[in-house]
Amino acid sequence: MSEMVKISINDKEFEAQKGSLLIDALLEENIHIPHFCYHQALGKDGNCRMCMVEIEGQKRPQIACDTPVKEGMIVRTKGEKIEKVRKDILELQLVNHPLDCPTCDQAGECKLQDYYMDSGFYVNRVNVQKNHALKRVDLGRNVMLDQERCVLCTRCVRFFKNVTKTNELGVHSRADHSVIGTFPGMELQSEYAMNVVDLCPVGALTSKDFRFKQRVWFMETFEAICKGCSKGCNIYVDHRKEKYEDDTIFRFRPKVNKAVNGHFICDEGRLSYKKENENRFLTMQCNQETETLNNAKASVIKTLKEEKNILIVVSPMLSCEELKAAQQLAVKTHASISGYAPYYFDESFKDELLRTHDKAPNRKAYETINISEDERQFNANLAQASLVIILENSYFEDKPTLLNGKKVIHLTSHNSAINSFANIAIGISSFLEKNGTYINCDGIQQEVISKINKDTRAVDLKEFLDTINSML
Ligand code: SF4
Ligand code: SF4
Ligand code: FES
Repeated sequence: MSEMVKISINDKEFEAQKGSLLIDALLEENIHIPHFCYHQALGKDGNCRMCMVEIEGQKRPQIACDTPVKEGMIVRTKGEKIEKVRKDILELQLVNHPLDCPTCDQAGECKLQDYYMDSGFYVNRVNVQKNHALKRVDLGRNVMLDQERCVLCTRCVRFFKNVTKTNELGVHSRADHSVIGTFPGMELQSEYAMNVVDLCPVGALTSKDFRFKQRVWFMETFEAICKGCSKGCNIYVDHRKEKYEDDTIFRFRPKVNKAVNGHFICDEGRLSYKKENENRFLTMQCNQETETLNNAKASVIKTLKEEKNILIVVSPMLSCEELKAAQQLAVKTHASISGYAPYYFDESFKDELLRTHDKAPNRKAYETINISEDERQFNANLAQASLVIILENSYFEDKPTLLNGKKVIHLTSHNSAINSFANIAIGISSFLEKNGTYINCDGIQQEVISKINKDTRAVDLKEFLDTINSML
């Protein structure tokens, strides 16, 4: 157990871990401390000098990112003297910075812009010609670099050196001609490359996928998890509902969760927001004819009462609540239930950082809810079944003949070949349109509360199953 000591910050007393970095203590207590080069995932570098603070007993201001916490330390982040020191450093940062704010994609979430506004530093006292550098460098893997906007904090360089260990970026040239770039003939390679877009404190590194699509202040955000694999990385979902348009997701960003994904997410997971928007199935069909929800429900009830050998096939994409409601349906209808879904396993996807070999978010819940995914049992139950109810499971997509001679009820959020022969097909909410709990590969339970304006044409699966269960 690390020793806690008392320190004073801006005349208030706080407890902090002895020997920890002062900047961490300040950030922990939500005390404003400008910083470019320090990042909790990358550690200190001490190159930007923006995090200057006054420490009683020290002649000169000190950088908080390289100062260990000591018992009785008296620290000041505010006051005319120390604020002037930081303002002077900011002035130097701005000497060569282009006047790009109105067109910069980082505007609204740029640290340089925020600190400039905070410091009230509105007059440019430097009348020398600004240095120019390359404005559009495609680094590969969806990352664009504007060298002129870079504050040379080296967060991006350290990310590729210390986190992915792929070392694609470096600082080239000297003094105020220094620029960030890849080594000759190289492009970014890492499957995690887009994290540098979030790490970059200014608009120097932007996402090719997102840039110029939205101004960030028009979007709304909620917290969720990525469904791309069983790690269940924590994300922010940035979305916007424009008048007469569907609510649309524009990007995922990593949310810090030290127990799950730390500070990062993989690029495939980050870009998987597109799957939420595209190819949706938003209708009810009975015998290939479009139907109302009430008629579809009545047909489901009638079919359930007529058939004696029922197999319900669930999927590890469903939430714990949906799996439990499906299990209740199985009990009520004396059906067998299977979670057989082998096609999500992909050994080539797994790596040593975050990605796992199971590209589904909730297989672990099968153990707690007691749903079998045994192949032999699934095949035996399928052979006997006269009715198969498929809940968000695409196993039959390329094996439709396995369903020959059986009745099929299909509930799915996306278009699928199965809809074309299902007796009843019902469009349901997609992963991020619904609330639910998921258990990741390490047994960590995580809840998603969706804030998306749901497409009213899609049915909430849990509510639908609850209604059917109450009508049986
Ligand atoms: S590109 Fe961004 S992250 Fe990289 S050194 Fe420049 S400012 Fe820092
Ligand atoms: S590692 Fe898995 S859960 Fe995390 S972002 Fe990638 S696909 Fe999503
Ligand atoms: S954040 Fe401390 S020197 Fe850059």
